[in-house]
Amino acid sequence: MLIGRAADLTYADVTPKAVYLNRRKFLQAMGIVGAGVAAGRRIFELASPSQRALAATKFSGLVKSPFSTTEKITPYEDVTHYNNFYEFGTDKADPARNAQKFDTSNWVVSVEGDVAKPSKFTMDEILKLAPLEERIYRHRCVEAWSIVVPWTGFSFSNLVKLVEPTPKAKFVAFQSYYNSRQMPQGRWAGIDFPYVEGLRMDEAINPLTLLCVGMYGESLPNQDGAPVRMVIPWKYGFKSIKSLVKIKFQSKMPPTTWNLAAPNEYGFYSNVNPNVDHPRWSQARERRLGEIFKRPTLMFNGYGDQVASMYTGMDLKKYY
Ligand code: MTE
Repeated sequence: MLIGRAADLTYADVTPKAVYLNRRKFLQAMGIVGAGVAAGRRIFELASPSQRALAATKFSGLVKSPFSTTEKITPYEDVTHYNNFYEFGTDKADPARNAQKFDTSNWVVSVEGDVAKPSKFTMDEILKLAPLEERIYRHRCVEAWSIVVPWTGFSFSNLVKLVEPTPKAKFVAFQSYYNSRQMPQGRWAGIDFPYVEGLRMDEAINPLTLLCVGMYGESLPNQDGAPVRMVIPWKYGFKSIKSLVKIKFQSKMPPTTWNLAAPNEYGFYSNVNPNVDHPRWSQARERRLGEIFKRPTLMFNGYGDQVASMYTGMDLKKYY
């Protein structure tokens, strides 16, 4: 995915965590433990349980979602230390390291465009929009790694109903927060900010589309998109935009960050599809973080029953 200044380094070149961890074990066995390993250890210390409790809000009384998978949940440490959040750097370890001081207080999400009731929501207001659920979703990155995460949130459709889209609203455009002073590493990311994403209206109101405020029963860590992000489990991970500040309903298909950066590699729809390879690597299989062997990738990431009908008659090779 890396482009621009970092064009010689691609998503496929990034060392998968399992391989990296095994290499670390090998180096430790050989007695070769370098500065990089020491740095890695420091990151893990920052996320010790006591640190987590200090920084995070614990949610209680979460409703269990019928959409949850029963698959094994990926460990918290893996999910929070192997991230894509280019505003904080392009290395998988960068967001956990660089987002610690990200100030998310006084957060406001603006909802505008073709709606009868344009609104601005504070985080307190968002938390009260609907009962908070725990939804355990598979999450598949376009780079062929995947995780299983217990997210906290509710269907995005709850917010949509409230603002009353007009008949003109055919798409929803999403925009992330961006501030180069808070996110200085973004200058070298090779993509334009603010990060933008989009969904077709029917995708946006599909019950699986989650407005997400937490994970593992707590508020979102900064590196995972605090304080509010989207999670769209049948699409590649890059559609799940982090640190959301603007939602706009509109008649036109909105531009999306990775499509702008490399249109032949990343389409608007970006549904998980093992039959359509990325131009530079296969999408047929994936590696779950923490596991050694790859597993087959499922069509629509295994959510076909709930979403396939939205794409009836569409050539998914053309609309990738
Ligand atoms: N949102 C913003 N604002 N900036 C980003 O760089 N990266 C995307 C997506 N949302 C990204 C973003 C990509 S490429 C992926 S795979 C997922 O976030 C990663 O989510 P995770 O770190 O929670 O696994």
